[in-house]
Amino acid sequence: MADALAKYLSENGNVEGELLELLAFNEKMAELGRMAAGVVHELNTPLSVIVSATQMILREEDLSESVREMVERVNEEAHRLAEMTKGVLSFARRDWAGRAEADVNQVAGEVMTFLRFEARKRAILVIEDLDFRLPFIAADANRVKQVIINLVMNALQAMGEDGTLLLRTAQETESTVTVQVSDTGPGIPPAVQEQIFTPFFTTKDLGDGTGLGLFITRRLMEEIGGTIAVTSVVGEGTTFTLTFPVTE
Ligand SMILES: Nc1ncnc2c1ncn2[C@@H]1O[C@H](COP(=O)(O)OP(=O)(O)O)[C@@H](O)[C@H]1O
Ligand SMILES: [Mg+2]
Repeated sequence: MADALAKYLSENGNVEGELLELLAFNEKMAELGRMAAGVVHELNTPLSVIVSATQMILREEDLSESVREMVERVNEEAHRLAEMTKGVLSFARRDWAGRAEADVNQVAGEVMTFLRFEARKRAILVIEDLDFRLPFIAADANRVKQVIINLVMNALQAMGEDGTLLLRTAQETESTVTVQVSDTGPGIPPAVQEQIFTPFFTTKDLGDGTGLGLFITRRLMEEIGGTIAVTSVVGEGTTFTLTFPVTE
């Protein structure tokens, strides 16, 4: 976000009042992110204690059926939370200079462990249609993760409550892999579609949206050497398609 903003500012001159406010807000969010990463990090240790302690209890032979079920449940939930904290931590790290090679299905899976809770809270059905024979893509996993999170968050926000989110990966050509994020939200009218990649364009209330998500997403896709496209039907839903180059 900071990089994209810096570039935008250097290309567009002076800082307007609204922009300054957004920069300050961005700082606040970044600070919140650091705090959250700290809290999540602290959660890791007790969670792994719970996971291993419950595993040990489950090795006992003379547990009653109801106790075994409860302990299994605690073990599964703690395990799930531990996985989630890992997702949050790797997202917060922003180590973008990583290996420029990613397994897009793995990234999609990590994004969904991270956002499944949000979807469930909104009673949104998540369908994953992943092609597991895909070649690696030539992109840094953390960037890809950021891009997919932006699209999935937009889809969840567009649907609000109820609806279906479809996440699909496929090999498009010999040298390209696509990731599609589809929703059954309100759709985007053609006139609005022209504006959605413009920095600070948002239809959301102040505080809900910065209007930077898709701008940054497109910038990241350009850096990767891929593309982003949108198709949408008002009243039916929206599909964003990311096209990535595969590794040589
Ligand atoms: N899946 C979607 N369905 C409907 N509208 C969308 C969707 N994704 C993006 N939009 C529209 O594009 C705008 C810009 O999105 P984005 O750049 O992510 O900014 P923000 O989410 O902060 O508003 C949104 O405010 C919304 O109007
Ligand atoms: Mg957004």
